[in-house]
Order: sequence, then structure tokens, then C-alpha cells
Amino acid sequence: MSPRKFFVGGNWKMNGDKKSLGELIDTLNSAKINTETEVVCGAPSIYLDFARQKLDAKFGVAAQNCYKVAKGAFTGEISPAMIKDVGVHWVILGHSERRHVFGESDELIGQKVAHALSENLGVIACIGEKLDQREAGITEKVVFEQTKAIANNVENHWDKVVLAYEPVWAIGTGKTATPEQAQEVHKKLREWLKSNISEQVSKSVRIIYGGSVTGPTCKELASQDDIDGFLVGGASLKPEFIEIINAKH
Ligand code: 13P
Repeated sequence: MSPRKFFVGGNWKMNGDKKSLGELIDTLNSAKINTETEVVCGAPSIYLDFARQKLDAKFGVAAQNCYKVAKGAFTGEISPAMIKDVGVHWVILGHSERRHVFGESDELIGQKVAHALSENLGVIACIGEKLDQREAGITEKVVFEQTKAIANNVENHWDKVVLAYEPVWAIGTGKTATPEQAQEVHKKLREWLKSNISEQVSKSVRIIYGGSVTGPTCKELASQDDIDGFLVGGASLKPEFIEIINAKH
């Protein structure tokens, strides 16, 4: 048995409205959820308060991004202090869409990680290679560099970090990584943590997989030694999310 509690995050991205998210929340609240799994739903910032108020307390809520300081003249941004003020305790940082659509650098993501952790938020820190990088054989180099930029900012807060490996070519494409492909990278990431941080951190940090996870693909992925859960996009908006939450049990 893994010592790491299985973790399933839903990333709603920029989807839904009060009506549809309210219905999804009702479905989640009344579902039979395995208590051995930690579940966190990533809501659009404008619905964080709504999601936190409606979701049962057994579900965590995450913001999908935040800025690197507590307050100030940063039009359009939200801070960890604001996220906590609405009762939310997690934030997703470094998602591939933040990196590749909005041009966020490793440096900025690192600064955000440092600030969010200093404010005591849990951080779901995302990494992952693009298709051309995988094809060029540099997957390891890319994910190690991204992980290093995050790790340099974690200090002694590893218990608040979940690392999400999301190969960009698998996100929203219906092309799930095979269990072997995902396990191979997760294992390398755990070895990187052992060599660069500590054996204790490498054994305790949850490394979750994201990229076209579905009901039919989740069980075999969940059975891999180094896959400690999922970050789910499209399927997290459907009742299928419940099947994914319960993938392990
Ligand atoms: P999909 O599950 O829609 O591929 O999205 C994955 C993702 O980006 C989760 O953060």
C-alpha cells in the first residue's frame, strides 16, 4: 500500500456557470466518495466563493491561478490572501495553459509558488513537456527544469505541495498517456526528488497525472506505483469524475 493519500483534482478551467456548476456540485455532494481519496475542485476565480459555499466540506476547492504578492495595483489578478478569505485552501500553479497561452515563465511560477506557500495555501504545481519536446527526446530535461524552478521555492513546505505531471500533448486531446509512459516520468520525478531534495520528500510527495483522464483510462493509470492521483480537466465537469475519484478503490 502506498503511504501517499490518493489525490484527485478537478480543473474546471474557464467552464460552467452557476446553473451547471451548481448541478455538478449537487451530483458530487450526493455521490458515494471513497474517504481514502482527497478531492479538490479547481473553480474559476469568480466562482470560488460559490463553489466553497455549495460543495460539501469533504471536498477541497482550488483557485486556478494567483499572483505573487498579497495586494496592490495588479488589475485582474487575485492573491492567496483573497483565496483564503473565501475559505479556499488550494491553488493550481504553472498549468500548461498559464505557461503556453499566457506566457508564464518558470521564474514567475516559482515566485507564485513561494508566495502561495508562505500564505499557507496548498499548491498543485504543474509541469509537462510539449509534443515536439517528447519527440526530440528531451522530456526528462524539460520536466526536471520545471520541477527545479518550483522546488527552489518550496523551502520546507513540501507537505503542502502536490506535483502534477501533465504532458501538454495529452491535455484536451483525448490522447491519454499510456500507464507505462506516465509511470516512467513519475518514477524519474521521484528519483529527481530523492537526489535533489530528500528521500523523505521523494517518498511523501504526491505526483499526480493529468491529460485526458477518463472513466475508462483511470483505473490502470491509478494502479501504477508512482501515480498518486489525477488532475482532471474535461471529465471533471461530468458525473464521470466520480468514477475517477474512486479509481483506486
Ligand atoms: P483534460 O483532462 O481535459 O485533458 O485536461 C487536463 C488538464 O489540463 C487538467 O489540468
